[in-house]
Amino acid sequence: MVMNILLFLLAVLNYVHFSTAGLNYTSIRFTLVNPDFKTVDLTDNTNATGLFEEDSEIILLIFAWTEDTTTPWIKNITEAYHRRNDRKYQIIYVDWSYEGSTFYYHEVKIIDAIGYFSGDWLIRFMEKEKVDINRIHVLTHSLGCHLAGFMAKYIKKQLNRILHRITCLDAAAPGYLESSTQKKLYRGDAKIIVAIHTDIDNYGLAEAYGDIDFYPNGGLYHQPGCNDSFLESCSHCKSHDYWVEAIFSNKFYGRECDSWENYLEGLCENNRLLNFAGNMTSITIADSGIYFTYTNAEEPFLTNCIIKYDNYYDINDNYF
Ligand SMILES: *[C@@H]1O[C@H](CO)[C@@H](O)[C@H](O)[C@H]1NC(C)=O
Ligand SMILES: *[C@@H]1O[C@H](CO)[C@@H](O)[C@H](O)[C@H]1NC(C)=O
Ligand SMILES: *[C@@H]1O[C@H](CO)[C@@H](O)[C@H](O)[C@H]1NC(C)=O
Ligand SMILES: *[C@@H]1O[C@H](CO)[C@@H](O)[C@H](O)[C@H]1NC(C)=O
Ligand SMILES: *[C@@H]1O[C@H](CO)[C@@H](O)[C@H](O)[C@H]1NC(C)=O
Repeated sequence: MVMNILLFLLAVLNYVHFSTAGLNYTSIRFTLVNPDFKTVDLTDNTNATGLFEEDSEIILLIFAWTEDTTTPWIKNITEAYHRRNDRKYQIIYVDWSYEGSTFYYHEVKIIDAIGYFSGDWLIRFMEKEKVDINRIHVLTHSLGCHLAGFMAKYIKKQLNRILHRITCLDAAAPGYLESSTQKKLYRGDAKIIVAIHTDIDNYGLAEAYGDIDFYPNGGLYHQPGCNDSFLESCSHCKSHDYWVEAIFSNKFYGRECDSWENYLEGLCENNRLLNFAGNMTSITIADSGIYFTYTNAEEPFLTNCIIKYDNYYDINDNYF
């Protein structure tokens, strides 16, 4: 009861604040982050910087709700990509943290506008810097995934071209369970959507909305090693912790299988293995499907995952 009253008051405060002030678009920043973490502000975007002439993979890292430049996994993933030596990576932060730190359901209402705004910036960026759309890899987590969806839909409409790849680390479920495909991230928004699911039926979407849907440990809440609570969803965050390790180690194997139940029973052991950790073009549309893996409860999460949590999972949960 007290909780409900608090939530109601928060909602009223937010409504009053934002209905009068409107969105603060100038607070949304687009920043190139170099390997030494020195930054170049690209927000203004009027003149080419000449920094993108080489054929790099450009990771557009879209923050999630309440995340900012100090969020540990944001730092880790930046370092992880810069340390790879298979090709050059350039990381651009889409920092909407000024708008992105209020009441969650308020964020759900404004995320489309922020997505369109970011899409508009990206179009101008590509034009100015002469960057081909196929070099852009959008990487994001939770609510940021839906921001990416709106951004991608906007670009499709404006340019009649689509982004090459979006990698979504556990798309947010609250506010999106009943949404149409036009109101959330969904396959078709990019040529390839890779979706990692680690917190289904809690903070993460269960449905296979990507082209390639990967469910470590069946995507289940709770992930191994997690002691989730209402305030801290460790399972939801496992999506990005796995990704950080994957990019550092260049290994994140999933095996294709029609269901988690069949995977647990060992019926898919002859199916193909896919490494999710490569560069943006190492996965193609021919790899479309549903994939599973076990992970370890502690780091390293992704190597020698031989432990079968046979009694750990409720195998009646079948979402696929
Ligand atoms: C918009 O956000 C910036 C911070 O990025 C802040 O300095 C500025 O005062 C804000 N403007 C309004 C009208 O709130
Ligand atoms: C962009 O380039 C033009 C022409 O060189 C220059 O006049 C202008 O000041 C530049 N704008 C910015 C924001 O650097
Ligand atoms: C970030 O990296 C440090 C070690 O470099 C590790 O201890 C920590 O668990 C990582 N955190 C996340 C969120 O990935
Ligand atoms: C998990 O959380 C519960 C409740 O806060 C606590 O009693 C328990 O010790 C925790 N377990 C671990 C392994 O952290
Ligand atoms: C991406 O990785 C694949 C291997 O997975 C490799 O064949 C390809 O050359 C890489 N692309 C670039 C541009 O480095």
